[in-house]
Parts: sequence; C-alpha cells; structure tokens
Amino acid sequence: MEYKIIKKDKVTSTNDILKNNAEKYEDKTVLVAREQTAGKGRMGRSFYSPPTGLYFSVLLKDIKSNPTSLTIIAAVAVMKGIYETFGISAQVKWVNDIILGSKKICGILAEGVFSGSRISHAVVGIGINISTKEFPDEIKDIAGSLEKDSNNSDILLHNILKNFDEEINNSDSKSYLDFYKKNCLTLNKKVRLLVNDNSYEEGFAFDIDDNANLLVKKESGETIKVFFGEAKVI
Ligand code: BTN
Repeated sequence: MEYKIIKKDKVTSTNDILKNNAEKYEDKTVLVAREQTAGKGRMGRSFYSPPTGLYFSVLLKDIKSNPTSLTIIAAVAVMKGIYETFGISAQVKWVNDIILGSKKICGILAEGVFSGSRISHAVVGIGINISTKEFPDEIKDIAGSLEKDSNNSDILLHNILKNFDEEINNSDSKSYLDFYKKNCLTLNKKVRLLVNDNSYEEGFAFDIDDNANLLVKKESGETIKVFFGEAKVI
C-alpha cells in the first residue's frame, strides 16, 4: 500500500485542501486532521469535526471509478475497518452514511477535481465520530459515535486504507458491491427520495446496479435509477 500520510492538527476541510491544491500533492496522498473548522458534508451541509473523531481525505489521480462508486468502495472499507479495529458491525444507508444502531457515525464525501470539463482527479473524504458525546442541536437526534477511545484512530485509519486499497485494486470484480448490498439498510425497504427541497418520490428500493445507482420501483410499476440525493427509509 503506497499511501503518503500527512497529519495536521487543525484544518478547514481536508477535502478542500486536497481539492484546491491537487497539483501540489502526489497521487494517493492522505491528509488527516485532528480537527476541522469547516468540515463539509454532501448537499452543502457541514460536518461537525471536533478532536474526538477521525477526519481524512485521499487524493486519487488515476481514477477508474465514478464518484458514486468511490463512495461505495469507501463505505465498504470503513465498515470492514471498523469491524477489524473494534469488532463492531456497522451498516450503510445508501449512499454514504455509516450507521450504528439508528445513529449516523460516519459520512463520506467523494468529489471530482475538474480540469476543464473532465474529471482529472478525485478526493474521497471520510469523517468518523469515534468518541464524540455531544453534538450540536441540529444533529443531536441523528448523530452518534463508535463510543471507543479516539487514541485508536491510527489503527482505524490504517485498517480503512488497507481495505480501500484492496477494494480499489480489485474494483473490476465489483466484489465490493456484494458486501455493500449485504450491509445496506436501504435495500428491500420502502423509501422516500428527496428530489429537491419541495418534492419527493416514493417507492421500493430493490437493488443497486453496477454503477452504484439505487433502483427504486414506484407504485405505478415504473423503475427509477437514483444516482444522487437521499433515500429515507419510511
Ligand atoms: C456527509 O455526511 O454528507 C459527508 C461527510 C464527509 C466528512 C469528511 S471529514 C473529512 C473530509 N473533509 C471534509 O470536509 N469532509 C470529509
């Protein structure tokens, strides 16, 4: 595994730093921060990042997978890494939330770095709440943590990177997809898809295809392929 790990104490967002300075960093650079002051989530949300978690981003300059597939590969690496480090089986809510019990303990944000209209690199960011106990009011009902000692964060990081590397190198086989589907709590459930702020659709989530799209059958019988957004189990 040839990842180059750079550790910082406090940064704005590890994703932003790698994305905005991609030319300065080598392929497979991993930027780890003890704390983020402007941690980012999907859909313009922020990601609460106090010093009781593990926050890191991986820069990939030679990308073979689309950002949604990278998110799925990262989710598999995180679930396996959490199990190997702590013996805890977490699950995934399509597409990027890692859940323990009913609480979100980790989020993943894969972003493309564009050169003109082409994606030249990707940054995959992962934030895990290891021992965080108090959360801001807006997320206190949905966020949780592994409730483990955050001194274990180096071992967790190592295990996740090892799995990420293995899954990426083996991604042609799509074996990561089987693991993802087995541990995905969105599958075989009725879901509400957020289309935009004031409209949604409902249906039955019955599969995830090779491109990481969630396949949802509406009551009308029509099947929709969802590649972005949120699917809430109802
Ligand atoms: C989400 O839950 O919507 C995604 C959260 C991703 C958080 C990680 S923490 C490390 C990296 N840096 C960021 O600013 N975001 C990602």
